[in-house]
Amino acid sequence: MCGIIGYSGREQAAPILLDGLERMEYRGYDSAGVAIRSETKGLQVKKSKGRLKVLSDMIHGGADLEGTLGIGHTRWATHGEPSDVNAHPHVSESGNIALVHNGIIENYMEIKEHLIKLGVKFTSDTDSEVVAQLLEFHYRECHNMLEAVGRVLRRIEGSYAFGIICSDYPDALIAARKDSPLILGYGKGCNFIASDVTAVIKYTREVAYMDDGEIAMVTPEGIDVFDSELVPVEKAHRTVDWDVSAAEKGGYPHFMLKEIMEQPDAIRRTVSPRIREGRVVLDDVKLTPEYVKNISRIFVIACGSSYHVGMVSKYNWEKLLRRPVEVVLASEFRYCDPLVDEHSLVVVISQSGETLDTMAAMREAKRRGGRTLAIVNVVGSSIAREADDVLYTWAGPEIAVATTKAYSTQLVLMDLVGLYLGDLLGTVSAEGYAAIVEGIQRLPEQMSASLKDTEDIKYFASRYFNHDSIFFIGRNLDYAMGMEGSLKLKEISYIHSEAYASGELKHGTISLIEPGTLVVALGSYMPLFDKAMSNVVEVKARGAEVMALTAASRREKMAKTADSVIAVPDTLAMLQPSLGVVPLQLFAYYVALQRGCDIDKPRNLAKSVTVE
Ligand code: M6R
Repeated sequence: MCGIIGYSGREQAAPILLDGLERMEYRGYDSAGVAIRSETKGLQVKKSKGRLKVLSDMIHGGADLEGTLGIGHTRWATHGEPSDVNAHPHVSESGNIALVHNGIIENYMEIKEHLIKLGVKFTSDTDSEVVAQLLEFHYRECHNMLEAVGRVLRRIEGSYAFGIICSDYPDALIAARKDSPLILGYGKGCNFIASDVTAVIKYTREVAYMDDGEIAMVTPEGIDVFDSELVPVEKAHRTVDWDVSAAEKGGYPHFMLKEIMEQPDAIRRTVSPRIREGRVVLDDVKLTPEYVKNISRIFVIACGSSYHVGMVSKYNWEKLLRRPVEVVLASEFRYCDPLVDEHSLVVVISQSGETLDTMAAMREAKRRGGRTLAIVNVVGSSIAREADDVLYTWAGPEIAVATTKAYSTQLVLMDLVGLYLGDLLGTVSAEGYAAIVEGIQRLPEQMSASLKDTEDIKYFASRYFNHDSIFFIGRNLDYAMGMEGSLKLKEISYIHSEAYASGELKHGTISLIEPGTLVVALGSYMPLFDKAMSNVVEVKARGAEVMALTAASRREKMAKTADSVIAVPDTLAMLQPSLGVVPLQLFAYYVALQRGCDIDKPRNLAKSVTVE
């Protein structure tokens, strides 16, 4: 959720913080703020409700705030409505300590009541201000910020990444983390903290990932890291292998469109190193053939679009592995007493690798003896580090809140893993294996071909953007793909939309179809094409307007019934969602564009959901 950044160096801090916040604004965008320390003015805090631009204009791009040490924040509200006072940084009563926070302090009420009894006055409704006040309380006792932070961390419960500055410390900022991401950036004569590498990549590619319970003291000369007992810790440095251009729009009007267009390359990056001489090679996983043979059940745990990848994979993996695959929403998993044991393989899918529900579900699965395999995009993220095995999707930084290239790379990576496991289990024939490998290798080129001409989709978007409710229907893989198409549309265009298994319509939902209702009929899963056609006829008979999606070989047949048809290249049935999802992403994009929506930052959402 929120994005935090901190800078300690020799340049003016405010413009650097604003630049970093702009790159992280996708993490939350209902208010923003910075705190800067200067020799002459002490701590200066500026914050405002609304987008970062409001703050930036207010402080003239940072020019108004002098000082070379500072922290910044862009917020996605949890405790307290989006407002000027609830915006971060929060300042202790004396004005000596400023703090930015990402996460939730669960026992904040009890601490707040205690501090109120001691006479502390609060100005906001947030849990974060409670930490700033508690910190001051302890600092007054021990006169040492590191020690005071250590005491606070022992008292609070919940999740956090903190950036803290204190007027008594002219060039040091303090950071701490638990269950919320925080990286350390090592520059030349300056050092950083940030929620995400994208915020600091312009200044340095050398980073380290903070671990739970660690505290860092950041100065222009270096970064000292300590464990929760304040014992020094050595951190391994990593070099980020992409540069700033990967996190910029590169001439596209929106990140989402850029990321849609990047999909063929992203898939190539995911696949190429993992296929050698026609065989799937997963060097990074340590699953032994003995372990795989004893798998009795597979769980896929994820949220949102990653969950939809799981839905597609369920159909494919059950065919490839002949093992039961259960796809569970991460937010439900923990609370359903899941039947996980040591023969359960638990696949955890997450673009960000920080989704709290997914992480909590993964921990629960491990606790019950399951073996976890994470499919993650963000290198060094919490889920990647905690899973027994991790496979990266290598999609590159994804900035738009609506995921596209991360979804596509997750999907294809799941196909590779399914094939790999099926081979170990002996449940995939030699010809089947070779055909799937060949099909996967052709996907980037087929996807590029369909991305070359988007005119039809733009036209359909201009024809249908005024609908206020849209149904996506399909069977089997088309149904799973429809879930993603529907989520994309509602997420960025705010049109109400539902994905339905076509066969289920007649059990109730068909009553919602009336003359003019737009139905997106998915008929790209060839084994059930005729049934898909029958469902088109069924909704047409009730007056629906039908936009259908099918494979090129069936375009003409589909056009006899549907009002408009989008065709994608033919591939193997199990790979068709990889091609079919692209026009659905583009349809959502162009509909949202027609409706004047804020495509990259849809209302109420954030890219990385680090609260439960
Ligand atoms: O980072 P994750 O893959 O764990 O995120 C899960 C969902 O929050 C995410 O897929 C969300 O549904 C997207 N905004 C959809 O476009």
